[in-house]
Amino acid sequence: MADVYYSVLRKYLTAEYAEGAKHCKLYFAPFAVILPSFFCDILALTIISEEKMRARKKKWAPGELANNPRIIRDAEVHAKGFKKYFDNTNPIYLEIGCGKGRFAAESSRQNPNINYIAMEREPVILAAAARQAEERGAHALAFLLLDADVLLDYFRPGDIRRLYINFCDPWPGKKKRAKRRLTHEKYLIMYEKLDIPELHFKTDNRPLFEFSLESFSARDWRIKNVSLDLHQSGMEDNIKTEYEEKFSGQGFPIYRLEAAPPKSKRVFYDDGLDTGDPIPPT
Ligand SMILES: C[S@@+](CC[C@H](N)C(=O)[O-])C[C@H]1O[C@@H](n2cnc3c(N)ncnc32)[C@H](O)[C@@H]1O
Repeated sequence: MADVYYSVLRKYLTAEYAEGAKHCKLYFAPFAVILPSFFCDILALTIISEEKMRARKKKWAPGELANNPRIIRDAEVHAKGFKKYFDNTNPIYLEIGCGKGRFAAESSRQNPNINYIAMEREPVILAAAARQAEERGAHALAFLLLDADVLLDYFRPGDIRRLYINFCDPWPGKKKRAKRRLTHEKYLIMYEKLDIPELHFKTDNRPLFEFSLESFSARDWRIKNVSLDLHQSGMEDNIKTEYEEKFSGQGFPIYRLEAAPPKSKRVFYDDGLDTGDPIPPT
């Protein structure tokens, strides 16, 4: 019964809310579904803060954040830039909102010639991701504690060759919240400024998928390899994230697409292999 409540909650509130709710008293869940959104907000905020409090109690996390060599420190970033950080000319793939990091770690294990950066804004979650990267046999995988809102302060055009957004928070409801979706036009403009040639997107949330299609279309992005049920699509090299595993296990179809900005919107571009600095258009 609890699983049904949480599935419904996830559809109406953010995934984060529902995750928090799982750790709260069960009787909150049905009320969150039937109450008006104002009450749901208060309820969900209470739930989230309780969840964050619990997360902060992870005693190992500060040590991990301070000492794990895979976690990029600000000073290094500013001094060297990300291309130099990895000390090779392999392309950099970035995942925003990596959660506990299974996707990034497994991707890195399977692709030693790619430099991966897994980014997450919640310190304890990032610490957990960095902790398990070694166990999963990751190669060139680094972690960055950062909110996507400040992406432009940390990356330069041409740094990132591919962007992954996996199961980002859907932020349903009010228009104001839509701006927080990582596929909102506000973010697409940032990705264009960073000259990112391709974005791979997965979600289990149909309204978010539809919203994202509109958003890409409004910025003239090209869409390809669309799947409305990824796990039935025959795609063999799909790497499952933690959320994907959980929600596909509950019977939800997974939506996926690849998107690319038009060249006219990118600052620089070259469509060949990564050779270092971006090449200005002629
Ligand atoms: C729903 S979880 C999905 C985690 C993982 N990608 C997966 O599929 O299992 C979304 C994650 O994105 C992180 N996140 C949300 N907004 C973010 C932002 N603006 N910048 C960085 N991380 C963000 C959250 O802290 C959370 O860990």
